[in-house]
Amino acid sequence: MAAAIVVLGLVALVGPPAALGLDNGLVRTPPMGWLAWERFRCNTDCKNDPENCISERLFRTMADLVVSEGYAAVGYEYINVDDCWLDKERGANGQLQPDYSRFPNGMRALSDYVHRLGLKFGIYEDYGNYTCAGYPGILGSLELDAQTFASWNVDYVKLDGCYSHPKDMDRGYPEFGYFLNKTGRQMVYSCSWPVYQIYAGIAPNFSSIIEHCNLWRNFDDIQDSWASVESVIDYYGDNQDAIIPNAGPGHWNDPDMLIIGNFGLSYEQSKTQMAIWAIIAAPLLMSVDLRTIRPEFKAILQNKGVIAVDQDPLGIQGRRIYKKSGIEIWSRPITPLQQNYFSYAVAFLNRRTDGTPSDVAVTLQELGLAYPGGYAVEDLFEEVSYGVLSPETKIKVKVNPSGVVILRANIHLPRFQSQNQKTVYDPYQHVFRTTARPNF
Ligand code: GLA
Repeated sequence: MAAAIVVLGLVALVGPPAALGLDNGLVRTPPMGWLAWERFRCNTDCKNDPENCISERLFRTMADLVVSEGYAAVGYEYINVDDCWLDKERGANGQLQPDYSRFPNGMRALSDYVHRLGLKFGIYEDYGNYTCAGYPGILGSLELDAQTFASWNVDYVKLDGCYSHPKDMDRGYPEFGYFLNKTGRQMVYSCSWPVYQIYAGIAPNFSSIIEHCNLWRNFDDIQDSWASVESVIDYYGDNQDAIIPNAGPGHWNDPDMLIIGNFGLSYEQSKTQMAIWAIIAAPLLMSVDLRTIRPEFKAILQNKGVIAVDQDPLGIQGRRIYKKSGIEIWSRPITPLQQNYFSYAVAFLNRRTDGTPSDVAVTLQELGLAYPGGYAVEDLFEEVSYGVLSPETKIKVKVNPSGVVILRANIHLPRFQSQNQKTVYDPYQHVFRTTARPNF
């Protein structure tokens, strides 16, 4: 007993306080930006491949293009370094240091460069002895590493989980979050905590994960293939009742990067990834070579209507509401609201491979869109408006193989009511509240 008290006393003295809550006020809508990993991997060969290796040059170039090619203007803001930026050894003072042959001016200079462009800077580390690619992890240096990131003006930290024990993560991830907060610099905290626990057969404690992380991975790494995108879509659909309640403003499920514009997805499949990521309120982190991306893929990534669905302020993650014979329908409640009714984004997916578009016909009511005043419906990729449709109206869409049609159905607001009343949705109580506006 006495020994137990001594041990507890020690923990109380050296450990972080009980209330570790993140609550950093960041990413009230899912983060948007560019992340190196899926496309550029761990290419450290700057001698033979100077344009594609993980280096200061690559990140500066991508940051420049995010601005000059119009991505920043539609909301992409984080420039995120992933694995393989580090030197294999810590510096003399124990600090993390980049491989200076590839980051000759150091990480603070890169961060300053990104900030001068009006963007934000993200970095990668791992709660373990090593990162997944074998560079130094943060274990044993949590506080120092959080301070180092703050001193580099980092805005976003992805903390991976290789070379650590998944059981330790329930303590370790909150602890590093505590040290991030303690620096006084606000940093988005992206955790791989649940995915490693799921793989180890441990049920993640999502109430703790939500409290301590801004986003988290819960499934496989995305790869450059349609099969990989489909497996993510299936995972999110098949496990939606467990996954959806965890999402909300400031805390998001992360199905991994957008691979649009790379080698593996067709035009149709690229639209599907974009639409489903928007429906499931996913972070939009492009991993693509912005120097060579073809215009049609750039247009998908910059589709303002689909981005607005992803960034809807309610932050409610959407769900698969229909799946039969290769046809799926996904929907997400969005603004504007009226009385007890949401507006919706609805995506129709054709998972069939029989080479010809499939027709889907359904009434709005069957989709759960029952507002008696009707909905203003538009097709977000085709940019076609269908006008105001009543819940009884049957809509027909043609969906290409492995493609998508995504509609936005906005509640049709009667003018006199919209001027005097405002409906808001309380995501915590799950209720609508209608407030009377002052009538001047
Ligand atoms: C893990 C992560 C990936 C990437 C690599 C880097 O696999 O899930 O997103 O960060 O490590 O090594």
